[in-house]
Amino acid sequence: VVPEPDQLSVDLVDAINDVNGRHAGKRAVHAKGILCAASFTPTAAGGELCAAAHFAGPAVRAHVRFSNGAGKPDAHDGGPDGRGLAVKLYLPGGSTTDIVALTLPVFFVRTPEEFLEFTRARRPDPATGAPDMAVLGAWLAEHPEAQPALQAALGAQPPESYARLTYHGIHAFRWTAPDGAERFVRYRWDPEAGEAGLDAETAMAREPGYLQAELRERLASGPVAFSLHVSVAADGDAVDDPTVAWPEDRESFEAGRLEIGAEAFDRDRGEDVLVFDPTRVSDGIALSGDRILSARSGAYSVSVERRIASRAPA
Ligand code: HEM
Repeated sequence: VVPEPDQLSVDLVDAINDVNGRHAGKRAVHAKGILCAASFTPTAAGGELCAAAHFAGPAVRAHVRFSNGAGKPDAHDGGPDGRGLAVKLYLPGGSTTDIVALTLPVFFVRTPEEFLEFTRARRPDPATGAPDMAVLGAWLAEHPEAQPALQAALGAQPPESYARLTYHGIHAFRWTAPDGAERFVRYRWDPEAGEAGLDAETAMAREPGYLQAELRERLASGPVAFSLHVSVAADGDAVDDPTVAWPEDRESFEAGRLEIGAEAFDRDRGEDVLVFDPTRVSDGIALSGDRILSARSGAYSVSVERRIASRAPA
């Protein structure tokens, strides 16, 4: 029996749908994406600091989905948007764990209730198709904590490639090491190809799906890789607040390497529904008290139900 979704999760996805529209079979946000096959190899440092199976070695199989943040599946790849990198690791014994990251270094809001308010404030006016700037401006004026994410979103150049962006896990997770020591950490995927952007005009002159085309072309000549960079919280760092970045000089290390080999066609097709949920952690990793993190699971399930209910008959 599938439990009834809670009201907050339904409200979150309703608000997202009101901004983006409903598109049969598609994710409520991050509707446009490309799935790839990958592998993840931990470093020795990862295994020393975290007891989770994927850091114990050897390499594990993975699926990776690159996406644009918008809920509009036909949006041009060059438009202003955050991009996503969602990773599913297949662990020995048959379970999986997910790491879900965005190009934003921090999030807009601290709580799901504020996410709801912010998303409702962004609802387009049917007459103009654009948000009511008076409503949105008033909300932003009352929420200075949203500024760092907003500045990052507005200041980002369109990407040259999904392979040339840095993706942030944003939330803190509590790691337990094999020796029992506990640390709060945050993840970041650093692109081995280095960062690169395009000016808006060049990006918009490319074909609407240029990021997927570029990735296919890039993969034809060799793998794409990211390093898993882990920062460790110092005493007093915010571990429950995704709007606050940690200082740059925090202890950090490389915990593993993600190597993406080819586009994948074996999942998220037909009857198979693939969902990446950052609350699916494995033994050795625990969630922080971040309420945005805990709210995501229910909202993602509602989006999945709507994907299934609306998809075209086979
Ligand atoms: C309360 C806050 C949030 C809400 C309500 C929300 C909602 C959603 C929903 C409904 C989906 C589609 C799920 C599906 O159909 O599979 C989604 C996908 C996604 N979200 Fe969030 N999200 C939130 C915060 C975040 C944060 C903080 C991050 C990054 C750390 C993030 C990154 C992503 C990514 C990368 C995807 C695409 C995953 C894929 O490729 O399948 N989201 N989100």
